Amino acid sequence: MPTGPAPLESDAWSRLWRAGVLHSCSTAIEGNYDGEIAAFWNARFNGLQAGQRVVDIGTGNGALALLAKGHAAQRGIDFDIHGVDAADIDPPHWASGATSFDGITFHARTRMEELPFEAGSVALVTSQYAFEYSRTREPALQEIFRIIGHAGTAAFLLHSSDSLISMTLRQQHEACALLFDETKILDLAHQWVSSLAGSPASSQGTAHIQHAFQSGSTRLVAAASALPEAAILRKAFHYLHATLEQAQGSPWQALQYLANARDDLENERTRLQHLAGAIMDLRELEVLHQHCIEAGYASSILRPLDQVAGSRMGWTLVVSP
Ligand SMILES: C[S@@+](CC[C@H](N)C(=O)[O-])C[C@H]1O[C@@H](n2cnc3c(N)ncnc32)[C@H](O)[C@@H]1O
Repeated sequence: MPTGPAPLESDAWSRLWRAGVLHSCSTAIEGNYDGEIAAFWNARFNGLQAGQRVVDIGTGNGALALLAKGHAAQRGIDFDIHGVDAADIDPPHWASGATSFDGITFHARTRMEELPFEAGSVALVTSQYAFEYSRTREPALQEIFRIIGHAGTAAFLLHSSDSLISMTLRQQHEACALLFDETKILDLAHQWVSSLAGSPASSQGTAHIQHAFQSGSTRLVAAASALPEAAILRKAFHYLHATLEQAQGSPWQALQYLANARDDLENERTRLQHLAGAIMDLRELEVLHQHCIEAGYASSILRPLDQVAGSRMGWTLVVSP
């Protein structure tokens, strides 16, 4: 099976949002964010007056923009809500199950390092697992300071090295190495199904290919019990199972299905690699906090956020003068 270059990060995110999930923790949290996370955001929205501007950076499918809109509606007011993302987002068309994005302005293919807002024009910048993805955090931070000026606030929920998400990441990486580098199970599945379709990708014969595929699968299944948090592995099993089922009826259709499955898994691997670079250790968080204080945001507060006791979801940083 031809393997192209790894997908670009922004393309990998575009693919996720186009699939319709509302937010990037959709495997762990159903519907929109709730509990402590929603409480944190609602406390920020509480400080806003009617008509004030909220800018959600790295908004994805607009989960946080929707929370802001819902909060304002409960108070019988409107905010001027914007969602910005480097990916090719379009929440009104792609987000499934969402009520209505009316009144929210989305800015696709817009990087947080260069925001289309005037200095001091934003009352609240929000970032939920987004700011830390910037490859150049300092310019992104300066840009946020510029748009909030000396009266606005910026609030971040940040990926941290002590969170549940980063604990599962090690297993996800191991699963990726097994799938893509060690067993090359998708290549083997492609060769096997191709041979069933009457066009062997190798001269070694169908029996040999089938044997190689089966030993790769056995190895993956054996590894799976030690990697219970590796969601990508479970997804790959599902895809492989469905490919083989389809191959009984139509090998050509199965090959097309497998190509799409591979695409999806490769995009997920790219997002996991991006996530690994985004996770901040506790020292980095403290440095960021200090930096905000020294920049004149003297009331900035850094705190851990646990969704329920023992389930850390990251750290919050509220940047205010
Ligand atoms: C983990 S997702 C978070 C999405 C959303 N905030 C949520 O909680 O569901 C990170 C998002 O940040 C975006 N992103 C990464 N780097 C960016 C940048 N430099 N400028 C703007 N968006 C960026 C990605 O495209 C992706 O949609």
